[in-house]
Amino acid sequence: MTAHRIEVSLGDRSYPVLVGRGVGSRIDEFVPAGAKRAVVVTDPTIPFTVSTSLPSMVSPVVGGEDHKTLSTIETLCREFARFGLTRSDVVIAVGGGLVTDVAGFAASVWHRGTAVIHVPTTLLGMVDAAIGGKTAVNVPEGKNLVGAFWQPRAVLADLDALDTLPQRELRCGLGEVAKYHFIAGDDLLSVPLDARITRCAEIKARIVEGDERESGQRALLNYGHTLAHALESAGSHDLAHGEAVAIGILFAAELARTLDRIDDARVTLHHRVVRDEYGLATDEQLASAASNEIPTLIDFMRRDKKATDGLTFVLDGSRGLEVVPNVDPVDVQTALESFFARGVGRQIG
Ligand code: GLY
Repeated sequence: MTAHRIEVSLGDRSYPVLVGRGVGSRIDEFVPAGAKRAVVVTDPTIPFTVSTSLPSMVSPVVGGEDHKTLSTIETLCREFARFGLTRSDVVIAVGGGLVTDVAGFAASVWHRGTAVIHVPTTLLGMVDAAIGGKTAVNVPEGKNLVGAFWQPRAVLADLDALDTLPQRELRCGLGEVAKYHFIAGDDLLSVPLDARITRCAEIKARIVEGDERESGQRALLNYGHTLAHALESAGSHDLAHGEAVAIGILFAAELARTLDRIDDARVTLHHRVVRDEYGLATDEQLASAASNEIPTLIDFMRRDKKATDGLTFVLDGSRGLEVVPNVDPVDVQTALESFFARGVGRQIG
């Protein structure tokens, strides 16, 4: 199979996203000229490895949101130091969104910026996390609050890695694919997996090119993420990120309905796509979300990075998705109450 290639065009920070079988073996093509060594940051539990002709060491990062911390960044940087990694060398991140986020952030601050190549091994990483240069870790006050924009030199989405990906991880990736469904209006389930990943990467690349540092359109990529991040921060750790995003997308539809931005039919369409077509936001997951205190969720949503002008959401409307600042907390509370009351087992009309 020939690899698909999408360019992310950002001037001197431009890079390709390759999608295909075996592309993880092409690391050496993207290593900076002059690099003498590499650190491979990876989750040792994943059954996918890469190799480079450079002398390299492996830095393990244990999976799980609890490890997405500043302390992990310190551990990585100390390992870089002991290995003698210089600013002209390269970090290679091999893993899911957590690995590419922490390795990307460590690379961004190591000697004030060292090259990184991302080899995402999950569907979520391939369609979203590894592309676009966002890197971050969590603090107890919220998710992804400390980070940097640091574009990789290449993203190598090797489909071989998906052969051993657990079903739940695949479903998580679908949560982000569903997001693109509403951003671009594409029926992404009707095309083969490689074409679907390529199309998602293409949608993301175009948005990032237009708004690298999220001063506008890029925020649309956070569709469903305001409630998702609040659920994750509030302690719904039984919900994986993509599962939380799927719930967040349905809540965003409920809130848009509460604000009279969309009608019931459009809310029903959200449920049909997310629940019936993508098989996400199951009754159990909605029940888990509903077990949180609403004021706690609203507090976390106030701390969202988009919330520079009060509670801020990406919401559907007659002009498609838009960033809506200053949403009245009373409307958010009403929408959450009705979402949690009606969301579980909601009948699709
Ligand atoms: N994952 C959202 C973004 O990259 O902007």
